[in-house]
Amino acid sequence: MKFFLDTAVIEDIRKAVALGVCDGVTTNPSLIMKAGKDHKQVIQEIARLVDGPVSVEGVGETAEEIVKEAEEFSSWAPNVVIKVPMTKEGIKAVRLLSAKDIKTNVTLVFSASQALLAAKSGATYVSPFVGRLDDISEDGMQLIQDIMDIYDNYEFDTEVIVASVRDPVHVVEAAIIGAHIATVPAAVLEKLWNHPLTDKGIVTFREHHEKHKKTMQ
Ligand code: G3P
Repeated sequence: MKFFLDTAVIEDIRKAVALGVCDGVTTNPSLIMKAGKDHKQVIQEIARLVDGPVSVEGVGETAEEIVKEAEEFSSWAPNVVIKVPMTKEGIKAVRLLSAKDIKTNVTLVFSASQALLAAKSGATYVSPFVGRLDDISEDGMQLIQDIMDIYDNYEFDTEVIVASVRDPVHVVEAAIIGAHIATVPAAVLEKLWNHPLTDKGIVTFREHHEKHKKTMQ
């Protein structure tokens, strides 16, 4: 399973890269606003740090506007992937971009039918938002299972990026289902490492090592 970082904060990306757990990055206009830097500048900085794909999202509404933005974003770095909203115009744009060999990530996906349409249009990635579905009392993870089953049935190449991840349980459940990628906020990535019994075990082993050393003197 690949881990993407769902952030535009350089320091968080740098830390994840150093730990070898950053296979790519996803951004959106809200994350760019939070990072508080110029869009092009921050994307270029991220694209230099990360070997994998970096998803960039615009605000174009018509297929023509989306393609125009995509061409601009693609000129920023070779590993840029274009995030396209799950609309009819967005799906038209995905077809046009795929013909130009520009990689796409269909975003704001909340149903299996939307994911099916995205795959049929030749999307490189699809991003179902599990947390936002859970927020409205729907089952985000069931959607991931349904999409994976549909993609397996027809051997679609589109990869599933589990997005709107809120906690480590989302990541583990997505991995059990076999989703290709989870895009995680830095705070969730941090929580994946920790267990109190690991910390307790280390303290005990160190104490016993010291005790043993003393009895051997
Ligand atoms: O990248 C899009 C997605 O991960 C957003 O997550 O937490 O704003 O629902 P969230």
